[in-house]
Amino acid sequence: MADLTRFGISIETKLLEAFDELVAAKGIANRSEAIRDLIRAALVETEWETSDVQTVGTVTLVYNHHTRDLSEKLDHLQHEHHSSIVSTIHVHLDPQNCLEVLVVRGKSGDIKRIADVLIGTKGVKHGKLTMTTTGQDLV
Ligand code: NI
Repeated sequence: MADLTRFGISIETKLLEAFDELVAAKGIANRSEAIRDLIRAALVETEWETSDVQTVGTVTLVYNHHTRDLSEKLDHLQHEHHSSIVSTIHVHLDPQNCLEVLVVRGKSGDIKRIADVLIGTKGVKHGKLTMTTTGQDLV
């Protein structure tokens, strides 16, 4: 087990009550685990701010495949960036709409640029880059 340190935090009572309610509502084991999660999230976010750090993420895209040339355009873009796109899941949501989830890996700056191009492609209804981490430097 990792080396643990206990420390005290001064916090407004109302803020702590609100936090405890959030912890309970989210089904998180306890207050300590919730605080560890927040710290890890902040560290992952900081990792992404350094554009040359190797990291991983997912890009989610929703689009209508009947939109003229859109499927071809997205496919072309993904081939252009094949070294950064590790895997793709395609789900036919209904007769018109498609969901694609791309697992991306590389330098955070490159991944952000690729995600921006894909999400910004005309006809993409919704897109989101989820920034996560290789976990290597995270306890
Ligand atoms: Ni489809």
